Amino acid sequence: MGNPFSPICQNHYFVPTLIFILCFRLSPSASATDTISSNQTLSGDQTLLSSGENFVLGYFRPGNSSYYYIGIWYQQISSKTIVWVANRDNPVVDKNATRLRILDGNLVLTNDSKSPAWSTNLTGSSGEVVAVLGDDGNLIIKSGSNSSSAEAPLWQSFDYPAHTWLPGAKLGINKRTNKTTLLTSWKNSDDPAVGLFSLQLQPSSEYFIFWNMSDDYWTSGTWDNQSKIFSLVPEMRLNYIYDFSYVDNENESYFTYSVYKSANTVSRFVMDLSGQIKQLSWLPTQQWNLFWSQPRQQCEVYRLCGPYGVCSESTDNFCSCLHGFSIASPNDWNLSDWSAGCARKTGLNCGVNATTNKDKDRFFPMSSVKLPDSQQSKSVGSSSECENYCSSNCSCTGYTFQDGSCLTWGGDLFNLWQLSTSDQSGKNFYLRLAASDVPNPSSKPNVAAIVGGSVAGVIALVGIALLGLWAWKRRSTRTKTVEGTLIAFAYRDVQAATKNFSEKLGGGGFGSVFKGTLPDSSEIAVKKLESISQGEKQFRTEVSTIGMIQHVNLVRLRGFCSEGDKKLLVYDYMPNGSLNAHLFNGKDSNILDWKTRYQIALGTARGLTYLHEKCRDCIIHCDIKPENILLDAEFVPKVADFGLAKLMGREFSRVLTTMRGTRGYLAPEWISGVAITAKADVYSYGMMLFEIVSGRRNSEPDGDSKIKFFPTWAASKLVEGGDLLDLLDPSLGSEADLDELSKICRVACWCIQDEEVHRPTMGQVVQILEGVLEVNMPPIPRALQLYADNQEQIVFFTESSSSQSSQTRSNNSASTVASKNQNAVSQNSAPSQE
Ligand SMILES: *[C@@H]1O[C@H](CO)[C@@H](O)[C@H](O)[C@H]1NC(C)=O
Ligand SMILES: *[C@@H]1O[C@H](CO)[C@@H](O)[C@H](O)[C@H]1NC(C)=O
Ligand SMILES: *[C@@H]1O[C@H](CO)[C@@H](O)[C@H](O)[C@H]1NC(C)=O
Ligand SMILES: *[C@@H]1O[C@H](CO)[C@@H](O)[C@H](O)[C@H]1NC(C)=O
Ligand SMILES: *[C@@H]1O[C@H](CO)[C@@H](O)[C@H](O)[C@H]1NC(C)=O
Ligand SMILES: *[C@@H]1O[C@H](CO)[C@@H](O)[C@H](O)[C@H]1NC(C)=O
Ligand SMILES: *[C@@H]1O[C@H](CO)[C@@H](O)[C@H](O)[C@H]1NC(C)=O
Ligand SMILES: *[C@@H]1O[C@H](CO)[C@@H](O)[C@H](O)[C@H]1NC(C)=O
Ligand SMILES: *[C@@H]1O[C@H](CO)[C@@H](O)[C@H](O)[C@H]1NC(C)=O
Ligand SMILES: *[C@@H]1O[C@H](CO)[C@@H](O)[C@H](O)[C@H]1NC(C)=O
Ligand SMILES: *[C@@H]1O[C@H](CO)[C@@H](O)[C@H](O)[C@H]1NC(C)=O
Ligand SMILES: *[C@@H]1O[C@H](CO)[C@@H](O)[C@H](O)[C@H]1NC(C)=O
Repeated sequence: MGNPFSPICQNHYFVPTLIFILCFRLSPSASATDTISSNQTLSGDQTLLSSGENFVLGYFRPGNSSYYYIGIWYQQISSKTIVWVANRDNPVVDKNATRLRILDGNLVLTNDSKSPAWSTNLTGSSGEVVAVLGDDGNLIIKSGSNSSSAEAPLWQSFDYPAHTWLPGAKLGINKRTNKTTLLTSWKNSDDPAVGLFSLQLQPSSEYFIFWNMSDDYWTSGTWDNQSKIFSLVPEMRLNYIYDFSYVDNENESYFTYSVYKSANTVSRFVMDLSGQIKQLSWLPTQQWNLFWSQPRQQCEVYRLCGPYGVCSESTDNFCSCLHGFSIASPNDWNLSDWSAGCARKTGLNCGVNATTNKDKDRFFPMSSVKLPDSQQSKSVGSSSECENYCSSNCSCTGYTFQDGSCLTWGGDLFNLWQLSTSDQSGKNFYLRLAASDVPNPSSKPNVAAIVGGSVAGVIALVGIALLGLWAWKRRSTRTKTVEGTLIAFAYRDVQAATKNFSEKLGGGGFGSVFKGTLPDSSEIAVKKLESISQGEKQFRTEVSTIGMIQHVNLVRLRGFCSEGDKKLLVYDYMPNGSLNAHLFNGKDSNILDWKTRYQIALGTARGLTYLHEKCRDCIIHCDIKPENILLDAEFVPKVADFGLAKLMGREFSRVLTTMRGTRGYLAPEWISGVAITAKADVYSYGMMLFEIVSGRRNSEPDGDSKIKFFPTWAASKLVEGGDLLDLLDPSLGSEADLDELSKICRVACWCIQDEEVHRPTMGQVVQILEGVLEVNMPPIPRALQLYADNQEQIVFFTESSSSQSSQTRSNNSASTVASKNQNAVSQNSAPSQE
């Protein structure tokens, strides 16, 4: 891991200009109109411009294509972004010679020869019709020459979307015609023709992404009308941009969405070339910002790299060819269409003529592979038997041998995934190639010969191994101390201590926790880990790293148990349980007073600071929430479950982002898929601070429906200078130190800023809560109120006049200037980033 934890340079605290700078305007045609009526045509550089100047319709040429298409794009966005294409499958060559016109009640695209390249294909529409480009990007055909009449349209482009789903459009099923409205990807970056990937609503009210309309590889899960999320897209709870709604009646069933007014942003939803659905918003910095995509991992896209292609998350262009293969269609490959995959450099030599050993196909070994789809299984005794079995079958293209079973593949190989060598779920795979394509035949020993020639040796080896295993087993059945203070527990000892795991303290995505008592009568909490992908050695290494991390605000790991699948972590028991029990289901006796809450906030920040900055291998917790803050007998907070992210490996983020009860705390970068830094913990910590103040879950609106989402309400209250006591947990009866309350609310609001650089470090949070740094008024986080005009007030802290000199920072003069005038960004604080 690099060092993402170096103190933030104040230079980062600037805000991009929050005003759209229109670099240029696409020159509207001489007569800027939104309508084509009977006697008008559109050709060459002529365009339609919607009445509010949001969208333009005209001819465009994608990328380096030599063809023209009729499309709709944003008028006010400097990088031409196509949202709809009419003649996707029938491009035209010469835009000057092509006309878009009304013909026999239809909108038709014709060239000189008058044969239509595209038509709205309406039947039975008699009389005059006009085509009007709406300000929502919807092109409609309606009857009459009066374009302002409010009749239902005869036809609308929203019913025939291309790859973009615009706000206001419906994506669903017409139950009367059984017609589905679906998003389909482009074929490649230069060709808007219908591509292989599509997003479709199923009658079960869940979306699927299909490959070639046949195989689905992602689903949203069903819609929960109550919480307005899809069951497998929990991060929708963090969405402050789109307001989705679902309609299901006798005629139709569909979703539609709008962009919240407060978001004040241009945003779009696309079925991308990459086989992922993506949500992007246009930034004031003049670029599209990807803030959500699914499937989360590019390699999860079905058949992305085509036959004999291999996908890897660790390279920029994801797809490459297997050894012995070359790119089948380099042109398409360069245009981000990998579906043609790869072709053999040398044909296989199997069958009657391949009798000599020299010409016989060979197998090329690959390691750390996620195996291809659709294998057949056969049980055989050994790897060499498996090789012979595959070798003898000319349609067998590869094999792997595991646990006494021989898996073979026939025909083209799809969905191979090259994992990193440290990934324990990776398998070995043997790929069939022509002999000449397997490098260095002499270096690959003939397995059969060796096995045959040294049976005695093998038996001896097995004997030794068994002896070793036996000895290890004997040792491991007795609890003993390893590395420093950590104890390696025997499973049966833990079983005894926990009375066979009878007293459950809690559970979560990573495993359940049980109470136990050791023979010396000290109390322990035992976490049973689920779905660990680490190997034995790595597990022990990680655990001993965690064991070395000790701090008064971190729960102490006493030991662990690792016997085969049984992986346990043994911690000190915390008599006062976890913070959530005191905050949310408090009986009167349970309620934490303000002073205790403040100390919990401070202690937690200290524990996290230690994890982020002070210990040797810095640790990002990734799962900060009240459930993971435990309280000892004196209500000193102790952060639990740190280090799990590394211990769990790949599983972690999947479990985390689908886990109930975690979603409210996840920083936006979890959704956008960019690298996670310690600032993700800062975000979660900020969310938790709001809960410490309010005594209720942020994500669960209470009976008072005007408070939709507490942090939004709190942030605006704070910024607008309302009475902060309104934010306080009612069970405290306004008993709180107002200075501290204001401080905590400000810190919380800084912590949940969208941009990582705008969030303080945990170390700075500690200094603020200790009174060493003073905290300025935060802006309302953009995710809560997008692009609100908060250019001022972007320096989040300044030196307190009472700060101890030992802890002051080197350039405090600049910061002090800023503190004198909180509304001003001091010169030194927001300088020349650009
Ligand atoms: C279209 O043109 C024809 C003849 O050129 C004319 O009779 C008709 O009124 C025109 N229609 C409109 C709507 O302008
Ligand atoms: C067009 O092709 C040139 C060279 O072949 C390449 O540099 C450029 O990026 C391409 N443009 C687009 C929009 O694909
Ligand atoms: C279309 O017409 C414009 C001027 O009217 C001209 O500049 C352009 O070269 C023409 N395009 C083609 C493909 O002929
Ligand atoms: C007009 O379209 C027809 C059929 O689509 C095509 O055969 C013809 O070449 C096109 N003519 C021109 C000038 O593009
Ligand atoms: C209109 O009908 C023609 C012929 O039936 C068909 O080829 C074309 O794809 C249809 N166009 C649209 C936009 O559906
Ligand atoms: C369209 O109709 C409305 C009322 O129905 C009328 O006020 C308006 O002038 C008409 N516009 C045109 C261009 O005929
Ligand atoms: C639509 O599909 C349903 C179920 O598949 C079927 O019962 C119904 O008859 C279909 N309706 C039409 C108009 O095709
Ligand atoms: C997609 O499916 C169609 C038939 O449904 C088939 O003809 C075509 O080859 C498939 N495409 C690919 C890339 O396999
Ligand atoms: C979802 O809830 C809304 C109101 O919240 C309601 O109007 C709508 O009918 C519900 N839809 C379904 C499918 O239950
Ligand atoms: C369904 O369609 C029928 C006929 O078009 C219409 O009368 C009815 O109001 C529609 N129902 C709903 C719920 O929109
Ligand atoms: C694909 O792109 C690479 C580098 O960008 C270039 O060298 C190669 O010629 C391109 N191939 C084709 C077929 O365009
Ligand atoms: C086998 O080899 C002979 C001569 O080398 C050739 O004529 C024949 O077509 C080959 N058969 C196959 C199945 O490749």
